[in-house]
Amino acid sequence: MKNLILDEINRKAKEWILEAGRTIRNKINDPLDISSKSNPNDLVTSMDKNTEKYFLEKIKSTFPDHFLIGEEGFGDEVKALDGTVWIIDPIDGTMNFVQQKRNFAISVAIYHDGVGEVGLIYNVMEDQLYSARRGEGAFKNEVKLPPLKKTTVLEESVIGLNHLWLCENKLVDEKIMQDLVKTARGSRTYGSAAIELAFVAEGVLEGYLAMSLSPWDFAAGMILIKEVGGITTNIDGKGIKMLERNSVFAGHPEVHSRILNDFITKARK
Ligand code: IPD
Ligand code: CA
Ligand code: CA
Repeated sequence: MKNLILDEINRKAKEWILEAGRTIRNKINDPLDISSKSNPNDLVTSMDKNTEKYFLEKIKSTFPDHFLIGEEGFGDEVKALDGTVWIIDPIDGTMNFVQQKRNFAISVAIYHDGVGEVGLIYNVMEDQLYSARRGEGAFKNEVKLPPLKKTTVLEESVIGLNHLWLCENKLVDEKIMQDLVKTARGSRTYGSAAIELAFVAEGVLEGYLAMSLSPWDFAAGMILIKEVGGITTNIDGKGIKMLERNSVFAGHPEVHSRILNDFITKARK
């Protein structure tokens, strides 16, 4: 894709994500219309829906030939990443949004013919925009993020993971995952996959593991992480399927391979 067109797309995407975030901040104390989706804890609000509709309207009126995959389903039914596709989570961390009014993000990724070109994650209440263009590095509020440290050991690393990994589950032996948590310097759960992936790119988390994420949860984060020299795979160390739900394992390459070889491979059921 021509750089000139990408510049314009990138500029608009940033303008819209900041605007959408401003709207959410302005309405943060307004009463919410909350409902649940797949289970009683899987929440969605009028704000999630309105934010996705905002992007849909902007994208379709400015770039009529672009497609949108959005969590709330207002976008297109995309079967392949042909052409230019926006992958958007209007609010990632809806439970945090509802319960805490903080620690949630808007995640926007733009893929062209299957290649991740633009990744944006906006931590709305902190007013922190993580952004990346393929081949041009990753930024936090326009300040370039340094490449991930050359070497990192697990014993000095902080890992992001959902505490459910440590309870009995279908995917991995929780005892071995408990060993992982004890071996690492620390573990954290923030409740927004997008923010946790942005933290991996920022180098404040050396790894992040998630059991089952959708394209809108990880698409932008993967682009950011690649730009600083990190990697993202599924928990078997294999490539992510961009249009499906995947387990997701992102991190510093050394920490990633240590966790994969010494823990996950052994823990996998
Ligand atoms: C959720 C968050 C959460 C992750 C869930 C996601 P949502 O997204 O990213 O951290 O553990 O798997 O579904 O529903 O708040 O957009
Ligand atoms: Ca999400
Ligand atoms: Ca969401």
